[in-house]
Amino acid sequence: MSVVIVVGAQWGDEGKGKVVDLFTERADTVVRYGGGANAGHTLVIDGVKLVTHLVPSGVCHPGKSCVLGDGMVIDPHTLLDELAQCQARGLLSRGELLVGLGAHVILPYHKLLDGLREDRGAAKGRAIGTTRRGIGPAYEAKAARRGVRMRDLLKPARLRELVAANLDELGPLIQHLGGTAPAEAEVATWIDDALAAGARLAPHTGDAGRHVARAIAGGRHVLFEGAQGCLLDLDHGTYPYVTSSSTIAAGACQSAGIGPTHIDTVVGITKAYATRVGEGPFPTEIPGELGDKLRNAGGEFGATTGRPRRCGWLDLPALRMGVRLSGMQSLALTKLDVLAALPEVSVCVAYKVDGKELDEPPIDPDDIARAVPVYATFPGWGKLPSQAREISDLPTAARDYVSTIQRMAGVPFCLVSVGPDRAETIRLSDPFAHT
Ligand code: IMP
Repeated sequence: MSVVIVVGAQWGDEGKGKVVDLFTERADTVVRYGGGANAGHTLVIDGVKLVTHLVPSGVCHPGKSCVLGDGMVIDPHTLLDELAQCQARGLLSRGELLVGLGAHVILPYHKLLDGLREDRGAAKGRAIGTTRRGIGPAYEAKAARRGVRMRDLLKPARLRELVAANLDELGPLIQHLGGTAPAEAEVATWIDDALAAGARLAPHTGDAGRHVARAIAGGRHVLFEGAQGCLLDLDHGTYPYVTSSSTIAAGACQSAGIGPTHIDTVVGITKAYATRVGEGPFPTEIPGELGDKLRNAGGEFGATTGRPRRCGWLDLPALRMGVRLSGMQSLALTKLDVLAALPEVSVCVAYKVDGKELDEPPIDPDDIARAVPVYATFPGWGKLPSQAREISDLPTAARDYVSTIQRMAGVPFCLVSVGPDRAETIRLSDPFAHT
């Protein structure tokens, strides 16, 4: 039995979808534990693309148990759409999906508030750049102990009471933010829709925490699939430019409801360069044409919002912080092939702030924003052989790049991805062989 957590080491979009899909070959149970439909995982299987937002990326392996933990915030309509998409492809049709009854529900007013706040923030120069999927407002309601949970979708009277109590407070706020407080008829439709979605999802709901604990106790291989990345963590990321959940490895235990003593290993995913969506400091961002070239080569447009991602050089201080925050014991390096488009490749090895060299980002985001990256530069390596299956199959410059990152991050690679397809992967070690 092995219990493995996979987390994004940067600002999300590290290519977790492909890595989780590969690791799921060995797993029996795959658990998504945080966030909601703000995530977007693009999977390419036999050349066909599938984008998931809520369902774990392990979905493409029939017969595996896919769990959405209680720490998630779930848009029931998005989940139903995704379920239908998967079932049309013969996936999740045999009851492999289990949604925690304690997970919180995203309702239309959460999305409305998210959008209004972003619009107002943009007008005042202080937008977060959220995905507008209602994530922040749903987690706010949870922390304020007035949230709606999956189990409430099964109790019409309770749902009506909860929504009325929420809108009693939120109606004036919506108006204050420049929106129109929803009319009674609209609210009634929201509730009816939520109840209908709840009824359809009911066969897939249950006690997720106990299900995962049983899988572990029964000696199954369990894979926890993180969403977003460590630097978007609510407590430890580049606050306030973060998401509203715990994205670090500890969040897996917290959100799925299992103790940390069950975890065998933590794998971090890092892209061979860096991207960030939304606002917030990003010292290694590449401006202008070179940044555009990297964005186009890597297809760096949000799987959820379609927004162009900000692109930059790999940031080792930020990566070291992710390694520390999540206690990563190995790393998966993704999208090495994308850098083939560039004439030379840089990597930030340290920050300089006020003349001092730092090997991790400073605590204050204002200091991160003015940090000057110290770069090491490598000659470009041209197109990688897509049939590379060993590190020795890579061109010398690419090999040097990989070994430099590994040395400077202080953690070995377990996998290097050299293309989007499952087969285009150099596998170095198996996280499930940990124990
Ligand atoms: P929210 O999670 O929609 O509230 O957005 C908060 C911040 O996290 C914004 O900068 C988003 O762009 C970012 N974010 C949220 N989810 C993802 C993701 O899956 N990948 C990358 N960035 C994300």
